[in-house]
Amino acid sequence: MSADKRGMHGIWGSRWTFILAATGSAVGLGNIWKFPYITGENGGGAFVLMYLVCILVAGVPVMMAEVLLGRKGRMSPIHTMQAMARENKAPAFFSGIGWMGAVSGFFILSFYSVIAGWTLAYVGKMASGEFLGATAEVAKTSFGSLLSDPWMLLGLHTLFMLMTGFVIARGVKHGLEDSVRLLMPLLFLMLILLLGYSITTPGFTQGWNFLFTFDADKLTTESIVVALGHSFFTLSLGMGAIMAYGAYMPAQASLGKTILAVAFLDTLVALVAGLIIFPIVFSHGLEPASGPGLMFQTLPIAFGALPGGAFIGTVFFVLVVIAAWSSAISIAEPAVAWAVEKGFSRFRATFGVCFLAWLLGIGSVLSFNQWAEFKFLRGTFFDNLDFITANVMMPLGGVLIAIFVGWFMTRESVAAEARVKSPVLFNIWRFMVRYISPIAIFYIFIEGLS
Ligand code: PHE
Repeated sequence: MSADKRGMHGIWGSRWTFILAATGSAVGLGNIWKFPYITGENGGGAFVLMYLVCILVAGVPVMMAEVLLGRKGRMSPIHTMQAMARENKAPAFFSGIGWMGAVSGFFILSFYSVIAGWTLAYVGKMASGEFLGATAEVAKTSFGSLLSDPWMLLGLHTLFMLMTGFVIARGVKHGLEDSVRLLMPLLFLMLILLLGYSITTPGFTQGWNFLFTFDADKLTTESIVVALGHSFFTLSLGMGAIMAYGAYMPAQASLGKTILAVAFLDTLVALVAGLIIFPIVFSHGLEPASGPGLMFQTLPIAFGALPGGAFIGTVFFVLVVIAAWSSAISIAEPAVAWAVEKGFSRFRATFGVCFLAWLLGIGSVLSFNQWAEFKFLRGTFFDNLDFITANVMMPLGGVLIAIFVGWFMTRESVAAEARVKSPVLFNIWRFMVRYISPIAIFYIFIEGLS
């Protein structure tokens, strides 16, 4: 790829815009929907601890490496990795990191849009006052009836995909910046409000203990794999999203603090979401391991009980939609940027990517009704897509990125690009990227697949 493609998609206005955009990518359904439900399924505290460890030893170091590659390449992840592999004389298969990422992007976007569709439905349900004074039973039935209606799910999935395409087609810079600037603080505010509510519920202590009491017996290999996979999913790593955003980052910004800020915010949102959802689960005798429906069966109870709950609930689900939206955009960006570099107009590139992901998403729509009983390997079609992306492809992408930056780039070029001010911190990070992250990811990976 000729050098004239470098930087053709534009540069973020400042380091802060990158933080906002990357946080917009990281904070999404992964934090509010997925984290609580997989924590519930994997027994609570032990899983949470593993997740935090994975964020620190694998997530943060790989995130820095990925942004670094993006900024150095200044192109879509596919072309960036091709150029980087060539320039650093690495084996050609490293250039495949970009391709694998684009494929996992399709897979993720396809089911992400389906779940985001559910949150769209909940905006309507909240606004109609359906959950005022709702019992756990009411919330459960309402969710069940939504899932059993494939046409409804398809319509919502279509709507969300159109929303996503609309922003991407306008270009990341203009499409995204303003929305995250407004959204993130608001989302935080709402989460704090809900946390205030959950503290008053009788199940708060039980919820807290469920999340933060470490019970080693509950730790299984499977749950460690899920924790690792989720640390990648929630930080948008190993598939090019963060690399693509890194490509638009101003040259002089230091990576260290920037990345830590994003990872910290992302983790905080997940933990607060857990602290909201589990106390409600225990206060109402619900099942923590109730799977993907967990958030949709607990939050309506909280809103139903709050004064002005219909209004607050509506605002909250609007925010969740926007959080999912700003993530979905980043999932599609690597493939779209690649197609643009190939000469397609941004509009056509967006249409192609979104259409393919939409088509594949129909499989996930049906996984919750018509095909619910059709299970293979890890479960339904949706379960398999989720598993293979988060637990296989993203960690694999991550380990390759770490090895590439750790072993195939010179210390000088890495240092010049990272611009980490403290030499101690830089050395710690480089050591992690060279040894700790790859070994940890590789080990968990092999264990999990065996
Ligand atoms: N990190 C996003 C979330 O937590 C999901 C995502 C995955 C975004 C992969 C980009 C890439 O919801």
